[in-house]
Amino acid sequence: MEKNIEQIQEQALKELEVAADVESIKDLSILYLGRKGKVTQFLRSIADLPPEQKPEAGKKANETKRLLDAKFKKAIKQLETASSESEGCIDVSLPGRVVRQGSLHPITQIAQQICDIFIKLGFDIAEGPEVETDYYNFEALNIPKNHPARDMQDTFYVSKNIVLRTHTSPTQPRIMEQQKPPVRIIAPGKVYRCDSDLTHTPMFHQVEGLLVDKGISFGDLKGVLTTFVHQMFDTETNLRFRPSYFPFTEPSAEVDIRCVICRGAGCRVCSHTGWLEVLGSGMVHPAVFENVGYDTTRYSGFAFGMGVERIAMLKYRIDDIRKYFENDLRFLRQF
Ligand code: PHE
Repeated sequence: MEKNIEQIQEQALKELEVAADVESIKDLSILYLGRKGKVTQFLRSIADLPPEQKPEAGKKANETKRLLDAKFKKAIKQLETASSESEGCIDVSLPGRVVRQGSLHPITQIAQQICDIFIKLGFDIAEGPEVETDYYNFEALNIPKNHPARDMQDTFYVSKNIVLRTHTSPTQPRIMEQQKPPVRIIAPGKVYRCDSDLTHTPMFHQVEGLLVDKGISFGDLKGVLTTFVHQMFDTETNLRFRPSYFPFTEPSAEVDIRCVICRGAGCRVCSHTGWLEVLGSGMVHPAVFENVGYDTTRYSGFAFGMGVERIAMLKYRIDDIRKYFENDLRFLRQF
């Protein structure tokens, strides 16, 4: 019998050695010390022993019971503290998680670059509404109802007299109504035209410019716009002023720059002309001054308007405007 309890103890300790987790140690505890456990059964069987053997066997069995109980508890405790330690500890050698930073949309970046150049030349920023009256979008700019020049811009009409502005030029009469000369403003913003293809989207961005003072001439217009082109592209970029027509400027000129792709040799982007149109401009038409109550005998001025997407396409050499509005992060992250 005594040998039996020793064997039980030995067996239990062996099994404890290979028990890898808390669960299996708890199972062992039940197997040996539970109500029907091996040690418990041994203790019960002592009653059947001859009286002289009982004290010794009882002593040994109780010792085994205490020993196993202590060993099981200790092993469980060790496993539990080991796992809680590894949970709380930080591995400082692991690489950190990178937080992705956002960035400005390329069109916003170009619009800001354009504005920065004119701010340095002394212009102030102005803004006007995108939902505009027929009066400011057309009439005040010398484009009467039924005038053929209205066909130059495919207009979204909200109602008979309300439109989505087709250009940023309505900021010109709005500003001039509010302030006396000298005026020196640029007005960036969204404009809308019913047009959609490789180089046109129904919404796009323009930056308008207006300068009015005493003695302003076409030479000032040329000087300011030449400075702008040289800063926006580079000083090697030649430009030309091509006679054009806008109802609100007279004389009017479109500004072309030497093709940034082929440098004038002729390519697909410049339709083999060597030149790229970048903006419209001209001397403010006297009719516009009269509409806002400016004295045309004392003041003169020039205005210009450019498409931000157009400048961005040339600067980044991307020939499909729609890419800017698909919001594909793989495209946007390049800027
Ligand atoms: N508003 C004209 C356009 O959208 C551009 C322009 C602005 C021309 C100012 C002359 C002066 O085409």
